[in-house]
Amino acid sequence: MPRNLELKAVDPDPARSLAAARELGAEDRGVLRQRDTYFRARSGRLKLREEEPGGATLIQYDRPDAAQARESRYRLTAVADPDELRASLDAALGTLVVVDKERHLLLWEGVRIHLDTVQGLGSFVELEGVAPADSDLGAEHEKVARLRAALQIGDVLTDSYSDQLLGADALVAAARDVMGRAHAPYSRFLVGAALRAEDGSIHAGANVENAAFPQGQCAEASAIGVLVAAGRTKVLEAAVIASGEEICVPCGGCRQRLREFMPLDGLVHLCSPTDRRTVTLEELLPLSFGPEFLPA
Ligand code: THU
Repeated sequence: MPRNLELKAVDPDPARSLAAARELGAEDRGVLRQRDTYFRARSGRLKLREEEPGGATLIQYDRPDAAQARESRYRLTAVADPDELRASLDAALGTLVVVDKERHLLLWEGVRIHLDTVQGLGSFVELEGVAPADSDLGAEHEKVARLRAALQIGDVLTDSYSDQLLGADALVAAARDVMGRAHAPYSRFLVGAALRAEDGSIHAGANVENAAFPQGQCAEASAIGVLVAAGRTKVLEAAVIASGEEICVPCGGCRQRLREFMPLDGLVHLCSPTDRRTVTLEELLPLSFGPEFLPA
């Protein structure tokens, strides 16, 4: 599998970045228009990239979110009929989000410099050190660090363009969607929960009741099960929604369930079909007990 070392940051001054890259002797490969359609994937990320000039490519990748240059592994498949593929993946998996951008591409010593203008988000600079198969990534780290200094790149972003476009609204939409499939014939109180994992992916679950009442399960517990089954171990953000008029607050047990996977400053969106209130987990569960209290 090919590998990249990459980092991304907000670019407050794209003209300055372009001048600095040219100054270093980077080769100017011109401006590309790219449209990325992200599909709901069970794990990792799957997107169809349509590029002008260029062509269409299906890209599957997995990448940890971290505020540093990070390694990404990916697979590229050339696509002859992007319209058909987009329609069939949309029908089978559903579309998560579409990201449109203009990318000014430069190349410097094997590192791709992307000066991106993303529709709805703004300007960004991205560095991608393409690693040969046998590389320990040492040389790529060194080159990316040199470019980072030369281009005066500030705080590195941890999430992808798609995550930024998806934001809290997507999380709430996923919770609302799954709420519609709750199994709650006894209480008729439908609940949906959606969790954003460390890679930006969204995992959702609904409450599942049982004729033997104590066997029922809250929506948060269902969503945590889905997240764990997908191989994720962290929750960065959560949304809970119920079908009633009031915003849904998690029960005490579910606050503790979230505490297992979520930092105390993580946001929880408490929703009704028409209203939303956002609080931190710590506000929901002050003076809480968590995994770090146990001996290593
Ligand atoms: N419920 C949840 O799914 N999450 C909560 O945090 C509160 C309660 C469900 C459990 C049960 O199916 C129904 O709401 C009524 O208690």
